[in-house]
Amino acid sequence: MEVLTTIDQVRARTGEARASGHVVGLVPTMGALHDGHVSLIEAAIADGCDTLVTVFVNPLQFAEGEDLDAYPRPIEADLAAAGAAGAAWVFVPGDGEMYPDSPLTTVSVAALGDRLEGASRPTHFSGVATVVTKLFAIAGRCRAYFGEKDFQQLAVVTRLVADLSLPVEVLGCPIVREPDGLARSSRNVYLTSEQRAAAPVLHRALLEAADVVHAGERRADVVRALIENRIRSEPLAAFDYADVVDPATMRPIETIAVPVRLLAAAQFGIPRLLDNVAALPPHDLGDHT
Ligand code: PAF
Repeated sequence: MEVLTTIDQVRARTGEARASGHVVGLVPTMGALHDGHVSLIEAAIADGCDTLVTVFVNPLQFAEGEDLDAYPRPIEADLAAAGAAGAAWVFVPGDGEMYPDSPLTTVSVAALGDRLEGASRPTHFSGVATVVTKLFAIAGRCRAYFGEKDFQQLAVVTRLVADLSLPVEVLGCPIVREPDGLARSSRNVYLTSEQRAAAPVLHRALLEAADVVHAGERRADVVRALIENRIRSEPLAAFDYADVVDPATMRPIETIAVPVRLLAAAQFGIPRLLDNVAALPPHDLGDHT
């Protein structure tokens, strides 16, 4: 595995790979790689890609007062994990390589990014969309792998690729969970042992709500309230949001007649944790399970 630090190096390696008839797989990350990231690298490799992992803690997606400086940066462990998973290259640019000047150009996918995470973190998705567009421009034609844990991010990226006709195929990969259901996240390291024990309430609340949808509940407000009440029943969870959305538009649903996504977020001490599950009305179960 080769460690690349400049945009020119990435362009040269990915260009050569494509010229030899290979498909480039791109796994954008902010490092602190865990099993969720490893599953993305493995998915790219299983698809036969020459795989580029990017490790860049993107300042544009952190607001003032968020955890940019404290964000974990275990670069040696990240290189080892990416190498063990079979990545061909890891791109580890400095801030000066990615943003030699403060960028004046930003990308925003407004209607997809203004609610949920976007409501709690108003500048977050334009920061994500801007860096991801830049990474796509650097990597060139590729298949790009994103985890479904950040479901709204996946919707934003899918839409920006379509809107801007970028030569990128975006693939969403299933959430990797701990045995007790907690979604793997780089921010889980901030949890105290008590918060860690409490955090799976997020997944349990969503699963219970999905069961209620499967059983025939069509009123989204009832499902939303169920998720919220379940999370609020955990004293260590500070409830942020729960919603029932159309998975493509991220808009809230009133009546559940088609497959929907249930999403929730809550703060457990320092970290805000997110989770989501698919929920299918009874007549759709046969087609999607
Ligand atoms: O999901 C992440 O880790 C980041 O938001 C991403 C996509 C790497 C952009 O910085």
